[in-house]
Amino acid sequence: MEIIEFNEIDDLSKELIAKAIKIRERAYAPYSNFKVGAALFSDDNTFFEGINIESSDYTLTTHAEMQAINAMVVSGCLAFKAIAVVLNSSTGLSVPCGLCRQKMVEFAKNDNVRIIGYNLNNPDIVNIWQLNELIPYQFNKLSLD
Ligand code: THU
Ligand code: ZN
Repeated sequence: MEIIEFNEIDDLSKELIAKAIKIRERAYAPYSNFKVGAALFSDDNTFFEGINIESSDYTLTTHAEMQAINAMVVSGCLAFKAIAVVLNSSTGLSVPCGLCRQKMVEFAKNDNVRIIGYNLNNPDIVNIWQLNELIPYQFNKLSLD
């Protein structure tokens, strides 16, 4: 994990964070009151966004990262180069959950894909991981051969 000052991050990461902050406003999270926004940059150099969308049955929730990836797949692109996740937590980091990490394994361009975490409660710093740090020993399509 790299911890970088917000002012020092590269332009693409800044743009992804800005897009995730903006789209997070649309998160539908009336049950947890925990809004998450995500924005990714695809292999064909397009931005896609996602939000968490909850449901009164409490089980149908879709996560922001998954929504962004699904939007990319619907567009016809099957790989992404970087993804930002924005939330507001007084105690935790902004980092994707295990389910989202597995979803990323399916569509990450390579193991160097950047996961950019931004916590609105700690706005001066950005956490950056590579996917293989967050999910080593991956179960992926090669596992099925
Ligand atoms: N959530 C995400 O959108 N992404 C994650 O990776 C972690 C959790 C959402 C799901 C739920 O709506 C809320 O955050 C609280 O768990
Ligand atoms: Zn998740």
